[in-house]
Amino acid sequence: MDKIKRIETQEDAIKLLNIALEHEWAVSFEYTIHAYSMPKGKFWYEDPVMKNTTDARAQTIQIGIDEMYHSLQLGIIITQMGGTPSFKTDEVVRFPRIMDNLKRDKMTEDMVTNLYQSAEFKEGAFPKIQNMVLNISYDEVRHSEQFAAMMEAMKKEGAEDALCFKPSPESTEKEEVQSLHEIMQLENELLHRYLKYVILFSEHQDLSQRLFKNSIDHMRHWDKNSGILIKMGDVVQIENVETNAEGVEKSLKPMPDLYPGDDRLSALETLIPAEETLTAKYEKLITLVEDGDIKEQLKLHLGQNREHLFTQEWLLKNARKIKGID
Ligand SMILES: [Fe+2]
Ligand SMILES: [Fe+2]
Ligand SMILES: [Fe+2]
Repeated sequence: MDKIKRIETQEDAIKLLNIALEHEWAVSFEYTIHAYSMPKGKFWYEDPVMKNTTDARAQTIQIGIDEMYHSLQLGIIITQMGGTPSFKTDEVVRFPRIMDNLKRDKMTEDMVTNLYQSAEFKEGAFPKIQNMVLNISYDEVRHSEQFAAMMEAMKKEGAEDALCFKPSPESTEKEEVQSLHEIMQLENELLHRYLKYVILFSEHQDLSQRLFKNSIDHMRHWDKNSGILIKMGDVVQIENVETNAEGVEKSLKPMPDLYPGDDRLSALETLIPAEETLTAKYEKLITLVEDGDIKEQLKLHLGQNREHLFTQEWLLKNARKIKGID
């Protein structure tokens, strides 16, 4: 993570927001990866904020979603200020032990809290930005406390050495597992690609809201598919990963950092072939899976993607009908 302390010019403000954005993209993904690498309903902790006994895995996913909203907020403000939001991400890491992932999650929360809270704004220069940065920073403070409580509970239970799921060698070779991994990559790419357009068209609610809905659908598909992978004896993969001798996985590019389309027509045009590719992959995968819950879930995703295709084709046709729309 880069550093910037003194915020005087518009350029400084955009730089701070983009540094934060690259962090937020990474952690929104990293936390969900960490969550989907641990068992459901096994590690419980007393949540210091909600005062409830909470599943560490479920809450880690929730925190990941908070980070996605931070990304969106930052991207929209950067665009409004005339800047270009970055889609690069900070590094994403997965350790073999659950505890080490939680330790990293707390560390990244503290690091970004420091970025937000140590920014020194020239008095009166960007009051709303300063306010937003402070507001986000207290979400991070809350997250940090939650991760700390999760670790404390795991220590108390003697679960410090509990391991993340590992793919079994047999599962990795299965055609349906490989196909689901490809689908996961596309879902992740599409969820972020839609978010880029949500940010790009944020000055008008119609297009922006419609595209946001599709992004959320892809996020949910990614999320459900991660659970399906566990049922298939596998675990969610990180793209472009390097694994060291201790089994620590690191990726500097866990998702694409560029997405096609820079205006309404070019953006809408890219979505149709992308949705078609994804739909075809689901159709193929469904033929490989036996009848049951997994197949039904995949059919649901397929159905929603067909719906996206319908919507996107009309959004494009309608945009082409109107002269002077950008
Ligand atoms: Fe955040
Ligand atoms: Fe956070
Ligand atoms: Fe879709």
